Amino acid sequence: MQQAREVVATEFDAVNQLIIEQLHSNVPMVENIGHYIIEAGGKRLRPMLVLLGGGACGQLTEKHITLAAVIEFIHTATLLHDDVVDISALRRGRKTANAEWGNAPSVLVGDFLYSRAFQLLVKLGNMEVMSLMAGTTNTIAEGEVLQLTKAGDPNTSEEDYFRVIKNKTAVLFAAATACSAILAGADKTESDRFYHYGLHLGTAFQLTDDILDYEGNAAEMGKNVGDDLSEGKPTLPLIFAIKHGTKEQSKLITSAITNKSSEHIDEILSIVRTSGAIDYTRESADRESQRAIELLGEVPNSDYKQSLLRLATLAVSRKT
Ligand code: IPE
Ligand code: IPE
Ligand code: MG
Ligand code: MG
Repeated sequence: MQQAREVVATEFDAVNQLIIEQLHSNVPMVENIGHYIIEAGGKRLRPMLVLLGGGACGQLTEKHITLAAVIEFIHTATLLHDDVVDISALRRGRKTANAEWGNAPSVLVGDFLYSRAFQLLVKLGNMEVMSLMAGTTNTIAEGEVLQLTKAGDPNTSEEDYFRVIKNKTAVLFAAATACSAILAGADKTESDRFYHYGLHLGTAFQLTDDILDYEGNAAEMGKNVGDDLSEGKPTLPLIFAIKHGTKEQSKLITSAITNKSSEHIDEILSIVRTSGAIDYTRESADRESQRAIELLGEVPNSDYKQSLLRLATLAVSRKT
């Protein structure tokens, strides 16, 4: 991550500055919560992809800095909303905004960030980018709702699962890299290439997130592990373990999902590991990451491209 950041260090600083600048509001609570979550950091992976994408397409401009801020605002808005929906307590190593201020302020400041993102987008004046971003935020909302309807449903299929993660997570990565290419003047073939690079990387990223929810370390990740089970989320490790575990194991997991209960987390963790569910999910993530890497094959070589390749690997090897 550090290496990739160095390639776009100046632009990256400019993005962070713009983000802080654009948090301004006459309502103190908006600024308080906005600064609270933004200054907690986060990996800033999506803005980085925007900057590197522009560079890899041969034109990293001022517009990319704006787009990077837009994408991070949208991402942060989804986190504020997501932590309310998921009743999460820890985010970016801090208490979540909902735990600190309550649900209502979190939802409303999330709305503020969403709409501020679109105010910034208008300044870019690019209809193609605007259209892709409008569609993307709409799809993310659908993805979160679809996931909600699947929570507590142990019959969720792999296909359902992949639809959820594509919609709630991967499309924002895809929009980040595709819009970045568009702003660099790329043609349709090239922007499609970058779209699919982002889509596969984003899918790999969420698959890894779903592994980390069982295997990760809360202190390193800055968010709690085991949340997925208590939400009754049928993520790929559980879907696989239900299908391939013993009858008894399947029953235990099915009931944990149905009851949204993490009571038997230790036992389920051991089933998930021994049944090969983690390995299976990891293989799937690796495959997605590999596809992302292959898509960059025809992109001319540069430090930017090398960093994009590295980030596709990092999406699956990460611990945070
Ligand atoms: C968290 O995204 C939400 C998911 C899509 C899993 P990140 O892991 O990129 O969150 P931050 O920005 O680094 O906190
Ligand atoms: C991530 O959702 C996707 C969005 C925020 C839209 P998750 O609920 O899986 O991610 P974490 O684990 O809370 O970061
Ligand atoms: Mg969540
Ligand atoms: Mg969620």
